Amino acid sequence: MRFRSRLLVDLNILTENYQKLKKICPNNEVLFMVKADAYGHGILPIVRHAVTELGIKEFGCATLGEAIHLRDELFDLEFEIYVFSDVQLGLQEKSEIYLNRRIIPILSNMDDLKFILDNSDFKNFPLSVKFNTGMNRLGIDYDRVDEVISLIKSKGRKSIYHLLTHFSSSSLSMKTNKRNIEQKARFKAIKEAFIEAGIELERTSIANSGAIEQGHGLEETHIRPGLMMYGPSSLIKPIREQSLWDGRVISSLETYVLKVFPVKKGQPVGYGATPVPYEGLCAIIALGYGDGFSTRYVGATLTHNGHLGKVVGRVNMDMAQVLFKNEAANNLKVDDRFIVWRNDPSDILRLSDETATIPYEIFLHLTNRVPKVYV
Ligand SMILES: Cc1ncc(COP(=O)(O)O)c(C=O)c1O
Repeated sequence: MRFRSRLLVDLNILTENYQKLKKICPNNEVLFMVKADAYGHGILPIVRHAVTELGIKEFGCATLGEAIHLRDELFDLEFEIYVFSDVQLGLQEKSEIYLNRRIIPILSNMDDLKFILDNSDFKNFPLSVKFNTGMNRLGIDYDRVDEVISLIKSKGRKSIYHLLTHFSSSSLSMKTNKRNIEQKARFKAIKEAFIEAGIELERTSIANSGAIEQGHGLEETHIRPGLMMYGPSSLIKPIREQSLWDGRVISSLETYVLKVFPVKKGQPVGYGATPVPYEGLCAIIALGYGDGFSTRYVGATLTHNGHLGKVVGRVNMDMAQVLFKNEAANNLKVDDRFIVWRNDPSDILRLSDETATIPYEIFLHLTNRVPKVYV
């Protein structure tokens, strides 16, 4: 476990982000996506804070394992949990877990839907159905809506607890992207078919961060934000300016400087004896791929006390080299606290843009060697 390399998670910023979110969509209930350990921020403290301080009552996990962990560890709190992808209701031990712990599986195929409808233990269990409107991943194909409606009616069910679909391209323009427009229209048609058939829709949702940031999908009862709650925008760079989102990143990743030494242009450093691109000061920081500081971050810009540095050479398991110009000399010392990303989203967005990755992946790269410290 590291000591001076750590992820500081500021729960007050989560509160701030939630308040900002509610300004964009005051009328929507929030189903907060906390899969993958709350996008790498620690599911238990995040959900505890969200329930007790923010009043959020619904959470989305990817796997049943995550949901069980959440239910068992936060047994003292009341909230709903949905499992989005790793459902597998047909396995008996799993279906009992859903029933006994009131964990709601998102039914994304006909087999799971039939399983619930045919199983008397699930007679009063909420039906949450996901349609594929163009994402082409999970979800019941949109053109099977009539079949789904007749099946549900034939089993005497009169309502759907949560009807949903998921955008494939909400990081692109919601206004002009053809697929986004098509998915919205298909979801609208699905809802109308249910309503016409006399089936009540208790909850509906379509929008994840990208759509919410653009003010789309807010006509539904619920929204399903993930990334934006943790701070960054999920829009691609060319349209990021159009985002309504001005959240701050709830975490900052800090480490410290192990060593600083002068280098000449072309001088080899570290593994592979990689030559540095220009003369300057090479700082060794205490983060490497063993911590989740990816080998892909080579070439990325990091700032320290107002100076720009570049990740050079190869990222090692435990360390990385950051090259600064000589002007940084007075502001770059051994033992300095070194911040990879701050709460201002520009740090993590620059890192993801420069390394052709995404903020989701940067958060999730971090390994357990980097302790999370909660403020
Ligand atoms: C079905 C569903 N809804 C909502 C989200 C949240 O997405 P985002 O983090 O882009 O807000 C996800 C994330 O993967 C998802 O799979």
